[in-house]
Amino acid sequence: MENILSIKDLVVSFASDGRKDRAVAVNGLSLDIPRGGTVGLVGESGCGKSVTSLSVMGLLAENGRVDAGEARFAGQDLLKLPDRELRKLRGNRISMIFQEPMTSLNPVLTVGRQLTEAIRQHSDMDKAAAKARAIELLEHVGIPEAATRFGNYPHQLSGGMRQRVMIGMAMAMTPDLLIADEPTTALDVSIEAQILRLMKDLQRRHGTSILMITHNLGVVAELCDEVYVMYAGEVVERADVFTLFRDCAHPYTRGLMASLPRMTPKGQRLYNIRGTVPNLRAMPAGCRFAPRCELASERCHAEKPGLIDLGGGHLCRCFLRGEAANHE
Ligand SMILES: Nc1ncnc2c1ncn2[C@@H]1O[C@H](COP(=O)(O)OP(=O)(O)O)[C@@H](O)[C@H]1O
Ligand SMILES: [Mg+2]
Repeated sequence: MENILSIKDLVVSFASDGRKDRAVAVNGLSLDIPRGGTVGLVGESGCGKSVTSLSVMGLLAENGRVDAGEARFAGQDLLKLPDRELRKLRGNRISMIFQEPMTSLNPVLTVGRQLTEAIRQHSDMDKAAAKARAIELLEHVGIPEAATRFGNYPHQLSGGMRQRVMIGMAMAMTPDLLIADEPTTALDVSIEAQILRLMKDLQRRHGTSILMITHNLGVVAELCDEVYVMYAGEVVERADVFTLFRDCAHPYTRGLMASLPRMTPKGQRLYNIRGTVPNLRAMPAGCRFAPRCELASERCHAEKPGLIDLGGGHLCRCFLRGEAANHE
């Protein structure tokens, strides 16, 4: 199937004061988003999910740098695009929503004004028509008393309402691709469900492809067709969502699954993967997950596993599963 976005061998590093060497946060990541599909990127905090999306969008922090790779979007490599061109794409064919919508909304303009401007940029509506459409969009994303809220500033809305406004903005733009980075992490579960529904709705109406970045496998199950599991700057597993939930292969993914609250019998303590994500400047020499892995052997500590295809595009970076697959 055709991909709307295809990231290949992305390497991203950061400089820090007083050090010559750079810290590598993303280490050769490849990821494809099929047109009209929803792809999940999951992993614990600090695995490099946000750095991946920010690099693709040209929004890396000052001290960050893309060292290698490409990110093809509609035939162009986003990593080589001049800032001006990238900004045009961002406000137009690619929409982004982040955990804290305050950072994407302009605090000194009313939400109505921001919505109206987005609508007018993407249509030939006059002011009155754009205002009517903006109120309609606010209603559509479930903002009560939309006509009144139209005149509110972002700080006058709750976090959940701000996020819904951001989705309204995305709907006004009818983008080809929506990149959502932990869009529901700061919200109540009931509001999370509404936001996920709205994202699906956006996809159904406009065929928008979605990259859903989250540490929450429950959200992945709800929304995604395909999933990439990221650990310490690398993809450790990739599978379609059914395969992942039925038969995940990597011990890290298994650990994430076991930490899912709803999979734990009542009263039992939640499972936690022991240890923490390694420091960028002290990566294990072998498998990056080995120090936390209950199955790790000597080889795992000494040698680095590559991504192996277990069949049908189910990829896994683990010696144990790789060997099992080869012997079948
Ligand atoms: N501006 C920066 N300078 C130095 N290190 C950074 C910077 N931004 C992110 N990092 C590091 O890159 C790694 C990946 O971060 P991030 O992509 O934000 O993780 P995630 O989104 O998966 O939680 C982390 O170790 C983080 O500390
Ligand atoms: Mg993040």
